[in-house]
Amino acid sequence: MAQIFDRSSNSLARISLVLSGIIVISLGVALNYLQRSPWVTRQGQRADQPVPFSHKHHVQGLGLQCQYCHTSVEKSGYAGIPPTKTCINCHAQIWTNADLLAPIRNSWATGQSVVWTKVHDLPDFVYFDHSIHVNKGIGCSSCHGRVDEMPLMYQENTLQMEWCLNCHRNPAKNLRPTSQIYQMAWQGPSSLNPVWCAASDQPGVPTAQTVDCTLRDPESAGAQVAALEIPSLAGHAQTATSAVAGAAVPAALHYTKFTDQEALGKYLVVQYHIRTPRELTSCDTCHR
Ligand code: HEC
Ligand code: HEC
Ligand code: HEC
Ligand code: HEC
Ligand code: HEC
Repeated sequence: MAQIFDRSSNSLARISLVLSGIIVISLGVALNYLQRSPWVTRQGQRADQPVPFSHKHHVQGLGLQCQYCHTSVEKSGYAGIPPTKTCINCHAQIWTNADLLAPIRNSWATGQSVVWTKVHDLPDFVYFDHSIHVNKGIGCSSCHGRVDEMPLMYQENTLQMEWCLNCHRNPAKNLRPTSQIYQMAWQGPSSLNPVWCAASDQPGVPTAQTVDCTLRDPESAGAQVAALEIPSLAGHAQTATSAVAGAAVPAALHYTKFTDQEALGKYLVVQYHIRTPRELTSCDTCHR
């Protein structure tokens, strides 16, 4: 060998080895980067829609609730996109001649649905269900961001497996009272804005709904509420924390005060009967 290849070709070979190593590594980095890039995940992109529908105008401006249009979000896997009739409820009177709304009027006249472009679209081999998330204390904004501030809809998060798992490993940091699911500005409790929660034992009622959380101190308002709820005791001085014996009479609720998300999250994990991270990250939870 030494006769055919001299010393310099030996070091050439070494250099090319190093070079190809560098190329392989940078290809890997580039692919990884590409896979997470907004170009692949579609994060932040505004889709081309037949009508430039503004959530900001309709939610923040007009105060419409999400359920007004996404009617099935609590009951089914799909949140649903509203039919033309929902728009016509108002737009038969408002902005009736606007060019922007021509596709809506056409759809209403012809009976053909408006074809909205999907903004969020998981692959078919992934199982996802809105109702379980919403009923177990995950708010719309935890996954979709501040929809009430979006003039045009876009995808806030990657929706990649890692993103789902990140929450499934520790749901506590995102759990909120079910009364706050549609509250876009929810930020969790703080010492300035505490939350009080109490759990009651009601057989047959879905677990998350047996937890009552309030943003106002039940100690100050609670005495009257408790008295109202329990007529037989109305004459007695009741506090919100007193337990009441007796079969038909529901016990007055014992409220706990929370001033940080960690404590509230831990409490709700127990009360909502959230499964262990191990179960929630097992492959067959999302790939069935
Ligand atoms: C007046 C009806 C209306 C209300 C109220 C409304 N939406 Fe929508 N929403 C729509 C329409 C129409 C679309 C489809 C067009 C688009 O993507 O902008 C849509 C799309 C969406 C999408 C994206 C769907 C996709 O293609 O992936 C999300 C997420 C969403 N809405 C969340 C919300 C949330 C959260 C609220 C409450 C804060 C809300 N919407 C209130 C009408 C409404
Ligand atoms: C509760 C009544 C109501 C419903 C339901 C409603 N709109 Fe509107 N919409 C309004 C009003 C009021 C305005 C005028 C807002 C403004 O100018 O501030 C408006 C404005 C608009 C505009 C003009 C651009 C803008 O955002 O200001 C478009 C486009 C529009 N709506 C589309 C839709 C579509 C599509 C639907 C059905 C998914 C729908 N609207 C449902 C009341 C409604
Ligand atoms: C745990 C995360 C999560 C929460 C919480 C959540 N969504 Fe979604 N949403 C998604 C994902 C993921 C998709 C895409 C589903 C698909 O492609 O199959 C989606 C899709 C949608 C769509 C498009 C239509 C559909 O059903 O696929 C609408 C509308 C929507 N969400 C509205 C809402 C509203 C309103 C809320 C709050 C009541 C909400 N979402 C809460 C993750 C979430
Ligand atoms: C912000 C937190 C959060 C995110 C993000 C999230 N999940 Fe969940 N998910 C939960 C919680 C909480 C539960 C309810 C757990 C329980 O009841 O034990 C749940 C339950 C589920 C279940 C169980 C449903 C059933 O009927 O057994 C599936 C499937 C699921 N999530 C899929 C997904 C997928 C897919 C994504 C990503 C696209 C996702 N989740 C993103 C918090 C989240
Ligand atoms: C919380 C829900 C969830 C769990 C649990 C989960 N996955 Fe996924 N998985 C997803 C989602 C969402 C995608 C689609 C990601 C995308 O579109 O980029 C995915 C995609 C995949 C893919 C396709 C390749 C890719 O990365 O896009 C494979 C393979 C996969 N998962 C394997 C697994 C295995 C193995 C497990 C168990 C260790 C598992 N998954 C657990 C949600 C989940």
